[in-house]
Amino acid sequence: MNTIGVLTSGGDSPGMNAAIRAVVRNAISNGCKVLGVKRGYDGLINGQLEEMNLSSVADIIHRGGTILRTARSEEFRTEEGRMRALNVLKVFGIEGLVVIGGDGSFRGAQKLSELGIPTIGVPGTIDNDLAYTDYTIGFDTAMNTVVDAISKIRDTSASHGRANIIEVMGRHCGDIALYAGLAGGAESIIIPEVGLDIDQVCKKLIKGKNRGKLHSIIVLAEGVGGAIELGGVIEEKTGIETRATILGHIQRGGSPTAFDRILASKMGAKAVDLLLEGKGSLVVGVQGNKTFSIDIDEALSLEKKLEEDAYQLADILSI
Ligand code: F6P
Repeated sequence: MNTIGVLTSGGDSPGMNAAIRAVVRNAISNGCKVLGVKRGYDGLINGQLEEMNLSSVADIIHRGGTILRTARSEEFRTEEGRMRALNVLKVFGIEGLVVIGGDGSFRGAQKLSELGIPTIGVPGTIDNDLAYTDYTIGFDTAMNTVVDAISKIRDTSASHGRANIIEVMGRHCGDIALYAGLAGGAESIIIPEVGLDIDQVCKKLIKGKNRGKLHSIIVLAEGVGGAIELGGVIEEKTGIETRATILGHIQRGGSPTAFDRILASKMGAKAVDLLLEGKGSLVVGVQGNKTFSIDIDEALSLEKKLEEDAYQLADILSI
């Protein structure tokens, strides 16, 4: 293989730059030319590519976002869009492609593999919603951002004796809420995998108040509903003054944690190794401390399961 392409697609996540760096440097170390595709599949369709060298990825391992930029491409969902992308890949002589993104991006990678371009997916999303891998790149950083926010909100929560709801991202997956809630000592964690039991949440709040708790932190995953609406219901049912904070895109930015940088470096390099071994139609994951690869179709067919023990533990420890 002489020429490898790399793109980032979908929602950005901290650590994507570290993954791009690993792809570029491992490919160049192995004598390959690397073309960076700008703005995900949209940029691929429109031929926005440029050759990357060792310096293109200098000084980026610590930076959030993605230097290649990203997009959620509607055009690539159409057959015409994909044909245009395929044509661009052929014109630029790209023999293998690394796609860094989440499940939507992997579906695109699956399509390109079916069209004969060996494509490897690297999981880059803060959501940690891919069942086949323990972690996705960006989740750890986002979780730490939320924990930091919880600590700050806890201060003001205690000062005022209020309940504070913190709405976090994650789409249909509750991992950010669950693990940040556990790490932040939240009183209640509300996630899509379990659903909302409003009476239980209110009961816990009142019990906490009665035993002298000053602060009350409720972490709500966006997949369950909105924090502002929930705040109104809680205030009405308990009489406890309640405030809502929607953390939003703050969770998508910032310098990646060491964990995310290491994960991204390992996964990006692994993707190139797989292409050089002549493989395609795979995604890279991590289990324990080891990176591995699995067929894209299989990876996408697996259903993400809640870590029940962690959920129960958070509940027990927040009495
Ligand atoms: O998939 C990452 C994510 O941040 C989700 O947690 C969130 O629901 C969504 O993207 C937001 O997307 P956008 O930035 O396009 O509004």
